[in-house]
Amino acid sequence: MTDLYKNVEQYVFDSFRRAGRVPEILHALRTLYWLEKLRPDPDEALRIASISHDIERAFRQKDVKEIVKKPGGLTNKEYFEKHEGRGTKIIGDYLEKQSAKKELVNRVKMLVSRHERGGNEDQNLLKDADSIGFFEVYVAGKATAEMVSYIGENETKKKIDFMYNRITSNEVKKIVKKWYNSAIADLSLS
Ligand SMILES: [Fe+2]
Repeated sequence: MTDLYKNVEQYVFDSFRRAGRVPEILHALRTLYWLEKLRPDPDEALRIASISHDIERAFRQKDVKEIVKKPGGLTNKEYFEKHEGRGTKIIGDYLEKQSAKKELVNRVKMLVSRHERGGNEDQNLLKDADSIGFFEVYVAGKATAEMVSYIGENETKKKIDFMYNRITSNEVKKIVKKWYNSAIADLSLS
């Protein structure tokens, strides 16, 4: 593990802690865990992007909080552009302050900038690892109830469907299928 990675991890954890978003720390760790399962021995940029991809949530501004509350808010283009775009800027600025190599900074930014929607092979890899980390921490961890109380049943179902349907790898779909099915079953019972 490089010193740069360790610094990023500390920065991400401190930022989430300060924002009172402790489950995001677990989600970041599980995203990295799954990424390493899907691609053993990933490069440093993939590891840094995995741990920091949701950093925007530690610095969420009012406009994004408002978008999230609108119908379809968590799955629309406006949300993805702001969530991915601001996260990219935050982690890019942090890495520059750490005097990271330009090539690494650009690669991390490229990865975080499409972690929700995917794109090239590595962006898809991060997106898929993020989906497993989402199901494992927020869905199987029963945080669905919290999501329902915040955005309602319909929007929660939309988000869960999106996080499942966006997965590129069939292997990853198989891993999350049981969590997806039970979450959908729970939602239709309530
Ligand atoms: Fe995530």
